[in-house]
Parts: sequence; structure tokens; C-alpha cells
Amino acid sequence: MANEKRGKGDNKLEINRKLGKIYKIGLALLLIGLLLTACSRNVNQPVTALKWDISDGELDPKVWGKYFPHQYTSYQKNLEVLDEDKANYGSSERSSHIASYPWKQNIWAGYGFSIDYNEDRGHVWSVIDLKNTQRVNDQTVGSCLTCKSPNVPILYEKLGDDYYATPLKEHLKDPNSMIPISCANCHDNKTMELKIVQPPLRDALKKLGKDPDKLSHQEKRTLVCAQCHVEYYFDKENKNRVTFPWTKGFEPADIEEYYDEIAFADWQHAKTGQGMLKTQHPEYEMYNDSAHFTAGVSCADCHMPYMKAGNEKYSSHWWTSPLKTAEQSCGTCHKDGPEARRERVKYIQDKVSEQLHKAGQLAEELILSIEAAQKIVGVDSDKLNEAKALSRRAVWYWDFVSAENSMGFHNPEKALHSLADSIDYSRQGIALVKEAVAQAGGSITIQPAKTEDANPTREITEKPDI
Ligand code: HEC
Ligand code: HEC
Ligand code: HEC
Ligand code: HEC
Repeated sequence: MANEKRGKGDNKLEINRKLGKIYKIGLALLLIGLLLTACSRNVNQPVTALKWDISDGELDPKVWGKYFPHQYTSYQKNLEVLDEDKANYGSSERSSHIASYPWKQNIWAGYGFSIDYNEDRGHVWSVIDLKNTQRVNDQTVGSCLTCKSPNVPILYEKLGDDYYATPLKEHLKDPNSMIPISCANCHDNKTMELKIVQPPLRDALKKLGKDPDKLSHQEKRTLVCAQCHVEYYFDKENKNRVTFPWTKGFEPADIEEYYDEIAFADWQHAKTGQGMLKTQHPEYEMYNDSAHFTAGVSCADCHMPYMKAGNEKYSSHWWTSPLKTAEQSCGTCHKDGPEARRERVKYIQDKVSEQLHKAGQLAEELILSIEAAQKIVGVDSDKLNEAKALSRRAVWYWDFVSAENSMGFHNPEKALHSLADSIDYSRQGIALVKEAVAQAGGSITIQPAKTEDANPTREITEKPDI
């Protein structure tokens, strides 16, 4: 989609040439494959031979699953919450981010994320995890349900924008809202075709001049995921409508510009008073303009590889680290074997992780320095205000990588560039604070947060009924 708006330089040609080679090899293999499996069903049209009768508004995956047992069995694997198979940084265990990376407690002071923030896990946990996070309370708006349940498009149809303004606790009284992410979030019940059902993505595509009902099949293999794996904000002037800030582009700088233009802040920082931005899982934005994206590879290519059950092929519906299925996820295009791919991913992620920690710790240092400097009598407030503005930027560029779930793998260049910007803003801000403190003849000491300071995560015993 962004292919149309971004420059296509020599790199693109080079990638196309290489991809051409990959496709030619792929095509040859496919032809051989088709000859060998001429009697089994075609991989690309596995559903056409079947009959199913799923009524409109049916959300229960058990009902859909009766007709599509392989997809359903793999979908049930999303219940897995142990990391026996832990590949690299990806994880399905509900570990606490604020304990593992204690600087997050100070970076988000005054905002819910500093109190409770856990590693994401399988799709089937979506509503239970939402219900149990200490970030929600009786005042929480309905907007929060938006990327958690297939009931959202139905509620939206009924309530319009009042869906967003209705309290979350009201929505959760409807048993259909307790159904976690499921078949109806991505498929049409009559045709089983992929479908964009989530209102915020439909709105965002229309704003970019795209008809959400006329997308190519390959585009949909990415955009069904972009229904939720994206940066968004609550439009406070429009009933907290969930809105994607995409009209200027998908770079962290484009989105920052968008927010600056509308003077938006997710919250006021408790230590500095600065209006801050919180990035939300921008997988799609990060992925945009990566080598894989530019080459036309979709989220589903890696995250939903074709699997075999007997001689039937189906798309895996276990959305997890593709490194657990590196053979099927990467092997269609990369012929160097699953071990080599895992090592390459680890190499990229280790580099990103090192810079990410550096950027996070520096952003904390900047915020704590501002807090301490504010207490000094006669300190230059213009300098401190400038440092506060830099803290908003440092946190935005750091969080763009921190809140994204691939530890930079989806687009190493964009991730490292964003972190370099964050580190630069923090260092500039820290220098300004030091100057102001020295001019006022004061001194400051700061105390970074520790793992032990983190508010404990709430135990969850409830299980989804899928
Ligand atoms: C070229 C393959 C590839 C593509 C395409 C791809 N991913 Fe990933 N994704 C990965 C890898 C590799 C990881 C890191 C897994 C790890 O660290 O174990 C990952 C991690 C993730 C995670 C975190 C997984 C976890 O265990 O916490 C999410 C969520 C995710 N991807 C979503 C997406 C979305 C959405 C898209 C499309 C916008 C996408 N991915 C496109 C390969 C891919
Ligand atoms: C997050 C989105 C998403 C959800 C949720 C989802 N699917 Fe899919 N499904 C896909 C994608 C992407 C494909 C690949 C489609 C393609 O390229 O033809 C697919 C393919 C299929 C196919 C076609 C055959 C195949 O395996 O490629 C069937 C049948 C199917 N899904 C059934 C289900 C059922 C049943 C559920 C619920 C238990 C479900 N899906 C939930 C995204 C989803
Ligand atoms: C309706 C919203 C929605 C859609 C559509 C969606 N996701 Fe997710 N995804 C989520 C949420 C919410 C979570 C976190 C659930 C939790 O932690 O309880 C998640 C988690 C994940 C994870 C992490 C799982 C783990 O075990 O750590 C992966 C990987 C993932 N999604 C990939 C995808 C891919 C690929 C697609 C498209 C084929 C997709 N998602 C479509 C909302 C969605
Ligand atoms: C549908 C084809 C396709 C799939 C599937 C795919 N890739 Fe790629 N990959 C490509 C293309 C095309 C490029 C860019 C080619 C180039 O620049 O040489 C690429 C480039 C890469 C690069 C960048 C080069 C480098 O080493 O820094 C890495 C890393 C990579 N892929 C890892 C993976 C992993 C890991 C998976 C599975 C999770 C995967 N790819 C799945 C097609 C694919």
C-alpha cells in the first residue's frame, strides 16, 4: 500500500531481481509440487471443495471449527502459554515488562502502563487479558475492546460511534464480547474469503483512498493483521473513536508530525508535566518499507505457513513466533535451512535489543533529571521546557521499537534509525538539564527504578471457552 507513495529506487530493482529469481525457483518447485500432488487439493483453493453453513453473526470458533478441523486444531494451539519452544525474544508467557525493564516504570509515570504491562500472548487470551489488566477500571471506555473480540463490528453496526463511548464494563456483559479473536475477525462466513471487518482499519483505508472491500488477496494477507497490529489513538473529540494516524506516512517521524499537528497527548507525565505519546504495537507500520514488505511478502507468509495433515495442506492458525516453524515459515523462500535463519534473526535482534535498552535507560535518565532539576530555585525554565519537549520525542522514538513485538526483526533499518533518534534526543535533553542545573549553581542525583519496585501482575485463572 505504501509502495505507491514511497520512492522506488535502485534498491527496489535489486530486490525485484532477486525476488524474481526466488519466484522462478518457487514456480518451478510449485509446478513439480502440483504434478506430485495432482490428486490432493490445490493449496490455494483448499476450501472450495467443501460445504459449510455458518450463519450471519455466528462468532463461536467451535461452530466454524466443525467445518474446518485443521485450521481449528491449529487455532487451539493459541492456548499455549509456556515457552518450552521459546525461540528468540518472542514469548507467549505473561511476564511483566515493567519488572524486566524497570526504567519503563519512570518513563510511563502517571500512566497505566507503569502499573501493569505484560508480554502479549495467544489470540484466544485477548478478552481475558483485557478484563484482568490493572490498566482498566469502571471508567474505561469501550474503545479498549476494539482489537479483542469479533463482536466489535456487530456492536459498531448497532451503536455507531457510541460503541466507543460506552463503558467497557457494559460491553463485557454481552457474552458475545467475551469471545476472543476468532474466525469472524478475518473471514466472511458465506465465502470464507478474507475480509476487513474492523471499523478503524476500514476508516483508515478510506482516508488513504482505498476501498477496504476491493483489496487484492495478497494485500489482505497482511491487512487482516493490520486491523489490530498497529499504532492508534483515541480521538477524544469524537467519542474516543479508535483512529489510525496514517495520513502522513508510516515512519515514526510521519506519525509524530501527525500528533504534533493536532497537539495530541496520550497522558501528562507525572514527573515532568509534559504531554506524552504512548506507542501501541506498531507491527504494520514497522513492517512497512522493510525488505520483506517491499518484496511483497505478507504477515501470513511467515506467521501462517502452510502445514500438512496427512496429504491435506492448510494455513497454520497458530499465531506465534515463526521461528517455531522456521522450516515452513522461511523455507519457502530461503534455502539456507531453519538453523541459519534463526541465527540471522538472533543476530539482528541482539543488535536492536542492545540499543533499545540504552535508549530506554537514557530516556529514564532524562525524565528523572528534569524532575530533580525542577526543584532547584532559579533554574532556567526555558531550558527545562526544551528538555521536556525532547523527552516526549525520546520516548516516542524509543517506544516505536519497544512496543513493536519483533525486537526489530520486521524492519531492522527502521528500528535502529528510530533508536538512534531517541538516543540523540535524550542526550540533547540531558545536556540541557545539566547546563541549567550548573547555571543555577545546583546539583542533582537520580535514582533509576528497580525490578523490585514493579507493581505485581495479577494472577489469572480464567480460561477461554473456545
Ligand atoms: C519475514 C517474516 C515475517 C513477516 C513477513 C512478519 N513477521 Fe512478525 N515476526 C517474525 C519474526 C522472525 C519474529 C520474531 C520472533 C521471535 O523473536 O521469536 C516476529 C515477531 C512477531 C510478533 C511477536 C511474537 C511474539 O511471540 O511475541 C508479532 C505480534 C508479529 N511478529 C506480528 C506480525 C505482523 C502483524 C506482521 C505483518 C504486518 C508480521 N509479523 C510480519 C517474522 C515475520
Ligand atoms: C487473524 C485473521 C484470521 C483469523 C482470526 C482466522 N483466519 Fe483463517 N485464514 C487467515 C488467513 C490470512 C488465511 C490464508 C488465506 C489465503 O491466503 O487464502 C486463512 C485461511 C483459512 C482457510 C482457507 C484454507 C487454508 O488453510 O489456507 C480456512 C478454511 C480458514 N482460514 C478457516 C478459519 C477458521 C475456522 C478460523 C477460526 C477458528 C479462522 N480461519 C480464523 C486469517 C485468519
Ligand atoms: C482483532 C484483532 C487482531 C487481529 C485481526 C490480529 N491480531 Fe494478533 N494479537 C492481537 C492481540 C490483542 C494480541 C495479544 C493477546 C493477548 O496478549 O492476550 C495478539 C497477539 C499476537 C501474537 C503474539 C502471540 C504470542 O503468543 O505471543 C502474534 C504472533 C500475532 N498476534 C500475529 C498476528 C497475525 C500474523 C495476524 C494476521 C494474520 C494477527 N495477529 C491478527 C490482536 C489481533
Ligand atoms: C515469500 C518469501 C519470503 C519468506 C517467506 C521469507 N523471506 Fe526473508 N527475504 C525474502 C526476500 C525477497 C528478501 C530480500 C532479498 C534480499 O535482499 O536479498 C528477504 C530478506 C531477508 C533477510 C534480510 C537479509 C539479511 O540477512 O539481513 C532476513 C534476515 C530474512 N529474509 C529472514 C527471514 C526469516 C527469518 C523468515 C521466516 C520467518 C523469512 N525471511 C521468510 C523473502 C522471504
